[in-house]
Amino acid sequence: MVETVRWDGQILWVLDQRRLPLDVVYCPCRTVEDVARSIKDMLVRGAPAIGVTAAFGMAIAAREIGGRAAASAAGHLASRAALLEATRPTAVNLAWATRHMLDLCRKTSHEHWIETLEAEAVRIYQDDIQRCRSIGANAAHYIPEEATILTHCNAGALATAGYGTALGVIRRAVEDGKRIRVFADETRPFLQGARLTAWELMQDGIDVTLITDSMAAHFMACRAIDLVVVGADRIASNGDTANKIGTYGVALAAHAHTIPFLVAAPLNTVDMSLQNGSEIPIEERAGDEVVLIGNHRIAPPDVQVRNPAFDVTPHHLITAIITDKGAVAGDFSAGLRRLFQCPESE
Ligand code: MRU
Repeated sequence: MVETVRWDGQILWVLDQRRLPLDVVYCPCRTVEDVARSIKDMLVRGAPAIGVTAAFGMAIAAREIGGRAAASAAGHLASRAALLEATRPTAVNLAWATRHMLDLCRKTSHEHWIETLEAEAVRIYQDDIQRCRSIGANAAHYIPEEATILTHCNAGALATAGYGTALGVIRRAVEDGKRIRVFADETRPFLQGARLTAWELMQDGIDVTLITDSMAAHFMACRAIDLVVVGADRIASNGDTANKIGTYGVALAAHAHTIPFLVAAPLNTVDMSLQNGSEIPIEERAGDEVVLIGNHRIAPPDVQVRNPAFDVTPHHLITAIITDKGAVAGDFSAGLRRLFQCPESE
């Protein structure tokens, strides 16, 4: 399976997902600025993957402290964390990772930060793959023996350290011998579905059909879709879920056609500090992503453009949220609180 990021002990190599599916090219990140740019410019994307990348960014930051005294070293790391956190505001996994690393520094003498943060970044990377596998296992109950599953954006191996969240659910079902067919929304404007999900599933020999976003409701009306599975960038404590722009429309259509709508995400995508989805910051990206396809302009020069990268699906449209610690349905507030109370949950 393709690696989203690779750590060689000095340099973080980031797969440039903007060039997929045509070219598989890794770009070196030697500095925290390189890491921040790779997230901001979406060489690496997907909530868990940018969290893992930011963790390595903090490991690189620890090498910059040189002979500084403890207070100055702590200040330096905090400013590096702020730089990384400012790159993309919606997915909470990024700030989860930087704050987790800062917490660890508070518990460790600054002479040991280099080896401590590097080891922790490697652990977070491996843990992310394990979390995805657990999500797949915890979702098994919701996936019938035979199903056509619609997914939106890319919540796959490419959006995580490996295996994927929504696509992890699909991978697990296929591994269990279930007869699964996937419909992938192309996911305008960045085309994560067309460029990434279709490619990733085809690499694994999983049956995938690409559709444009505007076709999803039609296929639901034709009863061609049995189930929807998507990932998440941030889940509020009441279950409201931010995910790639267009997810809300898919959820509304699924609800209208009584098709189950599952959200698959690790527990560190849940932000218990937020009461509901209206508090989730929504990233607005450059208009070029809307008016250009590749280098080809498809709209009049100077047309006004909006480009919110995410939307929020209200919890009442969600059948279940599947995490690495278990699945929650019905009363999401109580269910998510319960998952956080499990030993070792975070
Ligand atoms: O803008 P992106 O490509 O980072 O958005 C990605 C998504 O919205 C994914 O569905 C989400 O991060 C979950 S990835 C496991």
